[in-house]
Amino acid sequence: MCGIVGYIGKQAVIPVLVEGLKKLEYRGYDSAGVAVLEEKGIEVYKSAGRLANLVEKLGDGYSDATIGIGHTRWATHGRPSDLNAHPHSDCSGDFAIVHNGIIENYLELKEWLIKQGHQIVSETDTEVLPHLVEHFYKGDTAEAIRQVLIKVHGSFAMVALSRNHKEQMVVARKDSPLVIGLGEGEYFVASDIPAILNYTRQIYILADGEIAVIDRDGVRVTDFQGNPIQKEVFEVKWDTVAAEKDGYEHFMLKEIFEQPRALKDTLTGRLNHNGVILPEVALTAEEVANINKIFIVACGTAWHAGLVGKTLIERWARIPVEVDIASEFRYRSPLIDEHTLVVVISQSGETADTLAALREARRLSARVIAVTNVVSSSVAREANDVIYTCAGPEIAVASTKAYTTQLEGMVLLALYLAEARDSLSLEKISEIISALKEIPAQAQEILNQSSAIKDLARSFIVVDDVFFIGRSLDWSVSMEGSLKLKEISYIHAEAYAAGELKHGTLALITDNTPVIALATQMEVYEKTVSNIKEVKARDAKVIGLTFKGNDDLAKSVDQVIYIPQTIAELSPILSVIPLQLLAYYASVARGCDVDKPRNLAKSVTVE
Ligand code: AGP
Repeated sequence: MCGIVGYIGKQAVIPVLVEGLKKLEYRGYDSAGVAVLEEKGIEVYKSAGRLANLVEKLGDGYSDATIGIGHTRWATHGRPSDLNAHPHSDCSGDFAIVHNGIIENYLELKEWLIKQGHQIVSETDTEVLPHLVEHFYKGDTAEAIRQVLIKVHGSFAMVALSRNHKEQMVVARKDSPLVIGLGEGEYFVASDIPAILNYTRQIYILADGEIAVIDRDGVRVTDFQGNPIQKEVFEVKWDTVAAEKDGYEHFMLKEIFEQPRALKDTLTGRLNHNGVILPEVALTAEEVANINKIFIVACGTAWHAGLVGKTLIERWARIPVEVDIASEFRYRSPLIDEHTLVVVISQSGETADTLAALREARRLSARVIAVTNVVSSSVAREANDVIYTCAGPEIAVASTKAYTTQLEGMVLLALYLAEARDSLSLEKISEIISALKEIPAQAQEILNQSSAIKDLARSFIVVDDVFFIGRSLDWSVSMEGSLKLKEISYIHAEAYAAGELKHGTLALITDNTPVIALATQMEVYEKTVSNIKEVKARDAKVIGLTFKGNDDLAKSVDQVIYIPQTIAELSPILSVIPLQLLAYYASVARGCDVDKPRNLAKSVTVE
């Protein structure tokens, strides 16, 4: 996803911008650029491809400019190219703008600008912004931007430089994240906090509908009408080292291995002998009793966590749950009222579709609980209640520790609802709590055997198709295992409810087709084994996954991955770990770009 950085201060700006852009590389991008304010005017440097191309273009003789903006672009309107890269300028070269988001009515605006005599040179939606600023500019850039924002529809985080104001950056935000870092006589702008963490921990989080004028003396924030806004300083507590690779070859591997810690942190302070402690969810027992339906809404991996959440809530709290893909939710007129609880799950808290679903749910008067990993993210700020997962920053595009901690979030929420509705016996609650406390150490136990999975992954170098099968919660985890494999190793992978295979997909199983069969749900174990036999009879190569101590599965499969014993409802947190490792090692063995898979972005902030 696109990334923004900006700087005004005493340092030479280009190294600050380049370093900030490097910190944003994990978001995914296809081109990059910077604009700096020189005495003679604005100099723009842009390049398609990796940041290294831009750095090469910038050369060694950096300008000594001390104010500038930078951008990494992930193409939406117009292909990745030097010309389409940001920053974009107006006809006179008086303004340069970087932008995240989408200007939905850009075609109409472009047509209008062309009629006014403007020359639009790129295919992007963004380029209309500097031309509109040029059109409305009467000596005050912020005022011109206010005029522009009345005209544009869509989402944006934008930063503008003006040749006429060499000591000033103007930033604005609507539906796309933007923060301002406060240093000693220097100021930073970024779409994501890691970009500026090396310089400052004091930030302003710009809210929707705010514009800030930043000069060497400070930051002045107003709303889009120009009314002053007093901002509170937010102190970032993240450890910078937590965002580094820490000796691992890839962020993804580091994040897989961080799971015991992340799982422990997410439970810390939230369990006692009798149940869960979730003061952050402020529902009264009466409100819980009145909930007649729950929707869980999310995208990708977070949606997979929601599928597990559905089973847990229905099983333990006995409330009907529907799980929706966020991009579909608001277009299908969901039946929501004030007795509906909507749970949105999002690692980043910035996924556009999830945020839009949240807003729609609130508009329809539902109570919204967010499960998210990013403090003060948009989703966190807009939900009624927030359960934070404590995974720490997740940098790799492929989500791992965010998923397992989201599963814990689902367990905590399901237990909270069950306790409030008195739908579980004390013995059952205490059995779940005891099992939950074992999970971080059990995750470590699985990681200690990662070399066996690494060996197994070698056989994936040449395969084209892989099938994941399982029943009940094993099916939900199969979907996540399949997504992990396809997104980073580019192997075609599909997940099926094991009993569904014979209704069509079995036709695809031939000699040595790898099938990964999850068999941890003992209630349906015999049935899963029957399905495994069906694929075995078609000469599939079956890798089974079950609990340690179950020696039966080995009789029906070619190889078995064992995980520590736990209760059925918690097994997804453990069973997914070997699948994450398998995807990781397969990706490495196939020479893929593990942390930045092609065509994908970490955080999808456009619809
Ligand atoms: C999975 O590995 C992906 N990173 C993707 O499916 C991700 O889970 C999805 O885009 C949702 O992101 P979010 O949790 O930040 O909302």
